Amino acid sequence: MKEKEMDEQRQELMAARMSIIRYAHGFMDSMSLKCVVELGIPDILRKNAKPITLQELAAALPLPAVDMGRLQSLMRFAVHHMGLFTFNGQDGTYGLTRFSECLLRDSETFMVPMILGTLTDWGMGAWHSLSSSIQGGPPAFERHHGMNNWDYLASHPDMNQLFNESQERNTKEIFREILSKCGSWLFEGIGSIVDVGGGNGAAAKEIVKEFPSIKCTVFDLPQVMSSNSEKTSEVEWVEGDIFNSVPRADAILLKYILHDWNDEKCMKILEQCKEAIPAGGGKVIIVEMVMDINKEMDMYPALLSDMFMMVSFGGKERTREEWEKLIHDAGYSKCKITPFSPLASLIEAYP
Ligand SMILES: C[S@@+](CC[C@H](N)C(=O)[O-])C[C@H]1O[C@@H](n2cnc3c(N)ncnc32)[C@H](O)[C@@H]1O
Repeated sequence: MKEKEMDEQRQELMAARMSIIRYAHGFMDSMSLKCVVELGIPDILRKNAKPITLQELAAALPLPAVDMGRLQSLMRFAVHHMGLFTFNGQDGTYGLTRFSECLLRDSETFMVPMILGTLTDWGMGAWHSLSSSIQGGPPAFERHHGMNNWDYLASHPDMNQLFNESQERNTKEIFREILSKCGSWLFEGIGSIVDVGGGNGAAAKEIVKEFPSIKCTVFDLPQVMSSNSEKTSEVEWVEGDIFNSVPRADAILLKYILHDWNDEKCMKILEQCKEAIPAGGGKVIIVEMVMDINKEMDMYPALLSDMFMMVSFGGKERTREEWEKLIHDAGYSKCKITPFSPLASLIEAYP
């Protein structure tokens, strides 16, 4: 083999090893991100009008003492590897970037509750059972925690709160966009709607704001209803279990519900929903990712979510064909899929 070819092979091997090292240590990115949020570093940097030194940062941390060497390593990693903060080598000061602005405690995005919730034993422990879960049977979460996710949330109020808050913030953002771009045709002719598994009611509150004449009901598990301190009166709140029955309405909204379940459970949910809407003129509005549509947009969110749903809930993300088959098998006559964003498509199912 010529020297040049050998050189190329060596470089390829080095690049492959470096990729593996990055994947194997990806947890360091996650945990450093969590540490930065837990210590409130973005909030400390924002409080000051201009970038601050490591000493000033240390003095503001909510810790009884600070090891300056460790703090410097954390900040170096966050600046140079993650791009979380700016660093000015001349005066040794750190500042916010667009990236860390999303990590402010009062930011409207779902980033902070998502980070603080996911990077715990709730979100991460189950991954140790990924290999054994591939054989089928209970999902990784159940193997690790000895109960399914909804029972876990019911018995861990702090985690329940973080989970619901993260869903709420995410939904508020997505739903405002859905209503402004598609609201006029999506909700045309609908007098009442039930948001099944509607969590803290983020979607329902946005719908009634835009369409005050629509009677909106949020339906969810008792643990979600009882932990929600903002059950405002413009929306009706009903607790229950989708697998028993669903309140009747012109339309049912299922946002990020079906990806939590396997096909068999989804069929049951869709059958319950079909019974709750009029046979003529009713519809189920499903807001979910569509994997192959994502391919044209950005595949990463769907791939990530597919793995997360499998491990945490025993669910999955679906392709266009899988959605159409599921909806057809559940007894619906027609479905229409409208791509919306990498995070959500609109799927209308008609009885
Ligand atoms: C992924 S969250 C989605 C929440 C909300 N639709 C959103 O997108 O923001 C799934 C929701 O389904 C609810 N859920 C799970 N099992 C349920 C059941 N058997 N009956 C009613 N709701 C259920 C959960 O409590 C949770 O609020």
